[in-house]
Amino acid sequence: MRNFFFWFIRLEKALLIFFLLCVSLAASDLNASQCYQKQFSYGIVCVCNSTHCDFTPQPKKLPNGKYILYTSSNEGSRFTKSNGSFVPFIDSQWTSNEINVDENTSYQTIEGFGAAFTDSAGLNIKSLSNKTQENLLRSYFGDDGIKYNIGRVPIGGSDFSTRAYTYADEKGSSDLANFSLQTEDLEFKIPFIRIAQSKTSEELKLIASSWSAPIWMKTNNAISGIGFLKTKYMELWAKYHLKFLDAYKNFNITFWALTTGNEPLNGIIPLNRFNSMGWTPQSHRDWIGQYMGPILKSSEYNKTLLFAIDDQRIVLPWWMKMLMSDKEAAKYIDGVAVHWYLDFIVPVNVLSEVHDSFSNILILNTEASQGDRPWDFVKVQLGSWNRAEKYADNIIDDLNHWVQGWLEWNLALDTTGGPNWASNYVDAPIIVNKNKDEFYKQPMYYTIGHFSKFITRGSVRIKLSLSSAIKSVGFKRPDGAIVIVLYNRRSKNINVLIKDSKRGNIGLSLQKQSINTLIYW
Ligand SMILES: *[C@@H]1O[C@H](CO)[C@@H](O)[C@H](O)[C@H]1NC(C)=O
Ligand SMILES: *[C@@H]1O[C@H](CO)[C@@H](O)[C@H](O)[C@H]1NC(C)=O
Ligand SMILES: *[C@@H]1O[C@H](CO)[C@@H](O)[C@H](O)[C@H]1NC(C)=O
Ligand SMILES: *[C@@H]1O[C@H](CO)[C@@H](O)[C@H](O)[C@H]1NC(C)=O
Ligand SMILES: *[C@@H]1O[C@H](CO)[C@@H](O)[C@H](O)[C@H]1NC(C)=O
Ligand SMILES: *[C@@H]1O[C@H](CO)[C@@H](O)[C@H](O)[C@H]1NC(C)=O
Ligand SMILES: *[C@@H]1O[C@H](CO)[C@@H](O)[C@H](O)[C@H]1NC(C)=O
Repeated sequence: MRNFFFWFIRLEKALLIFFLLCVSLAASDLNASQCYQKQFSYGIVCVCNSTHCDFTPQPKKLPNGKYILYTSSNEGSRFTKSNGSFVPFIDSQWTSNEINVDENTSYQTIEGFGAAFTDSAGLNIKSLSNKTQENLLRSYFGDDGIKYNIGRVPIGGSDFSTRAYTYADEKGSSDLANFSLQTEDLEFKIPFIRIAQSKTSEELKLIASSWSAPIWMKTNNAISGIGFLKTKYMELWAKYHLKFLDAYKNFNITFWALTTGNEPLNGIIPLNRFNSMGWTPQSHRDWIGQYMGPILKSSEYNKTLLFAIDDQRIVLPWWMKMLMSDKEAAKYIDGVAVHWYLDFIVPVNVLSEVHDSFSNILILNTEASQGDRPWDFVKVQLGSWNRAEKYADNIIDDLNHWVQGWLEWNLALDTTGGPNWASNYVDAPIIVNKNKDEFYKQPMYYTIGHFSKFITRGSVRIKLSLSSAIKSVGFKRPDGAIVIVLYNRRSKNINVLIKDSKRGNIGLSLQKQSINTLIYW
């Protein structure tokens, strides 16, 4: 009898909550919790300073039959939380957009999400007071922030530095005699990597990439433009990477992975004006197979993974096939790193093709930023929801095509999108305003957070039947939670029905232009 009553009340409550939710979600809370909103011409940012910043604790494990939904939207929701219960049946108004959850069919395992500890990011963060810096780093790496757990570290300078440099600009009496870390490592990278490590509850996995060899190792004797590694320096350039690992190890910083060099295609583009070094597929293959691979794997860093390519999708999958057809190179390639800049012209299927050909290869998106195009006259568009949506779209596509992690570019830039010695300014999810000792969390920050905060390392993608109106991707986390990210790009609210054969149905009214994360156990 008690049981019957219990179930009866539960069901009644569930239905009540369900119907309330349909109403309440539509007119959702615009005062997103603790976000101090500021309207700029492109949209809304959340302002943080030394005494105030918005944080969102991780959801506690819910009882069966309950779910939580986090929503961020063009209208101003930022991780706005609502909850509800599964229901056994569903009214027909929900059934036109149905998403079936099939946790029996699983795909790739997630490594994580993150961004890069560039010199410029460190310089910008350092321009803030200690308490504001703490809020910024917690916003990215804390459990109540967006839980980044991967960091990319440039080996030497990139364009996001105030000067072009390497660790051996001057050729010493013996080749790498002059190798040394620079002020930038000590001031702008290492301190922030360490603080980030202290804030993450998961291991912060670090992946390092070089932008260019010292100019004396290069065919064009210049840091940018069309230039390649001189063949006689193949071995030395691999050893340079080991010297870097040694130098960081002295600071107790170890690397999970290396890439084979940032964007080798830039080294064959005549107009390129920032740090770059070209590889042809052949030279790339030979360097990996005969030098970098064997030197790395016979060193104490034998566990460090090697990611090839580190460039735009456009060279996939043919470049990977070329590398992997070489027995020597194939031995040493653990993954492929891709960048997002040409995704608008290259179909996402090339990622699946890489996976289908080489199922053991990790696929990581190691860089994305916006405002990079020549026609992007305003580099930093404070509050842009449009840019948030571009990321939502891209991350969902990537994750639905075997990508195991997704990294943005600079952790923080200034209001001009720099500094950048080559004037190659871009936008960032966090923009620092040092004059006011504050920083702005842009919609991009929350969009990435809808993935990074909830899809913990080790989560496995599961199958969703996709609805045409809503873009979605689903995961099962190591703690058993199901996490589904739902993106409504339309300018009207959309009802969706989530059907989980084990647990029941959820009817959601997704806010117009919103990104949502649904969690249940
Ligand atoms: C930080 O921002 C909050 C919210 O706007 C404000 O009340 C507070 O005065 C600011 N703190 C400082 C030190 O400016
Ligand atoms: C669900 O929402 C209600 C009403 O806002 C709130 O009182 C309750 O604490 C929430 N439950 C969870 C698990 O978040
Ligand atoms: C998943 O597998 C279980 C046990 O094998 C089965 O009972 C269930 O129907 C399956 N679910 C789906 C959605 O296929
Ligand atoms: C702020 O100061 C404290 C105490 O000196 C220190 O432990 C912490 O690392 C500093 N934080 C940053 C971001 O520098
Ligand atoms: C480079 O190394 C040579 C000796 O090998 C030394 O004389 C010179 O001072 C070094 N230069 C720098 C910038 O460290
Ligand atoms: C080095 O780092 C590891 C992991 O981050 C930490 O457990 C250890 O205590 C650190 N050791 C020193 C000497 O700082
Ligand atoms: C990898 O390096 C460690 C030392 O860092 C060494 O103990 C181990 O034997 C090496 N493993 C292989 C397979 O070479």
